Amino acid sequence: MKRRILVTGGTGYIGSHTVVELQNEGYEVVIVDNLSNSQANVVDHIEQITGIRPCFEEVDCCDYNKLEAVFQKYPHIEGVIHFAASKAVGESVEKPLLYYKNNLVSLINILELMPKYKVKGIIFSSSCTVYGQPDILPVTEKAPIKVAESPYGNTKQVNEEIVQDFVKSGAPVSAILLRYFNPIGAHPTALIGELPNGVPQNLIPFLTQTAIGIREKLSVFGNDYDTPDGSCIRDYIYVVDLAKAHVIAMNRILADKQKEKVEVFNLGTGRGLSVLELINAFETSTGVKLNYQIVGRRAGDIVKVWANPTHANEELGWRADTPIEEVLRSAWKWQEHLRETGVM
Ligand code: NAD
Ligand code: WQD
Repeated sequence: MKRRILVTGGTGYIGSHTVVELQNEGYEVVIVDNLSNSQANVVDHIEQITGIRPCFEEVDCCDYNKLEAVFQKYPHIEGVIHFAASKAVGESVEKPLLYYKNNLVSLINILELMPKYKVKGIIFSSSCTVYGQPDILPVTEKAPIKVAESPYGNTKQVNEEIVQDFVKSGAPVSAILLRYFNPIGAHPTALIGELPNGVPQNLIPFLTQTAIGIREKLSVFGNDYDTPDGSCIRDYIYVVDLAKAHVIAMNRILADKQKEKVEVFNLGTGRGLSVLELINAFETSTGVKLNYQIVGRRAGDIVKVWANPTHANEELGWRADTPIEEVLRSAWKWQEHLRETGVM
């Protein structure tokens, strides 16, 4: 009997890549997603990659009764990976209540249902955004949590506190909080990848859409920062490496290997790259010239942040070591696939 895992947000960017790796590990996966930022055909693409079709329920995690019906329809769910959330920083400033409602209620519903259906543990999608601009780099899990720069970032901080408080209350569940740095790239098959709605806010999708001609020019938001080349520095992690960390974390929970009931891990490469370095790496690794211009700074941007991933490397035996050139080629191959298949 395969061990059953519930993946909320499983047709989304990181969720879909994680479903693939969970299936590769032998887990049976049930996806819950309301398709607010993804499409149902991602289920088909996952099946094309692994040969196994995940169960899929189009349900809003904020709808308690419909979410409970999933736990009833699929008994013996052993673990949950909770990706479902709204994640656009700028939109969260314009629509804070939508973000607080969606990101907090969805998690609270999951946590309420877990003990009722004897679900052992949860992995929560957190973000390096909780650190703000760290005082010390690279940033460890012990770094102080800074006042959030956006309602979105605040939902991540509050969600982490909700999980901590729930476990501390004696709830019979354990948790692993994974703080992602900047996930980029796409599955090597180019059958799944990042597919943002409308004009991309994040760097890589805007970059590849510019490279293929959908966007006229990439704007580099500032080159007058206190960094070697003046552009902002981030820790860009391959989404497949990130997905694999979730499998290891789930194995850890189900094998009772956790050292505390709530564990926190930074998931990054430990390598900071500037925007201009990333552009150069893209051009070098793909041979595609990029049309870009330096413009003014973007409000709210952190100047530089990259992970100290030692805790995850040592405790999880996991490392994000895919070379950036390979990661950028995967992003480009995905963009070409979207063109070839008429998606954009
Ligand atoms: P995504 O938007 O591609 O995936 C999120 C999925 O959740 C989407 O498929 C969406 O339809 C679904 N969803 C949203 N609200 C839902 C609800 N109420 N009920 C059911 N489904 C719902 O985003 P992603 O980049 O894959 O991010 C996944 C998680 O990782 C999010 O929690 C995000 O905050 C977090 N995260 C992302 C990044 C990043 O840069 N992508 C970085 C750090 C953390
Ligand atoms: C990266 C760098 C920009 C676009 C955000 C969220 C974070 C997480 C990941 C959800 C920055 C520069 C970007 C462009 C540019 N999301 N840039 N031109 O801001 O590090 O993190 O996404 O959890 O919470 O804040 O990622 O990809 O938007 O920007 O110059 O068109 O690229 O200034 O330095 P960011 P990003």
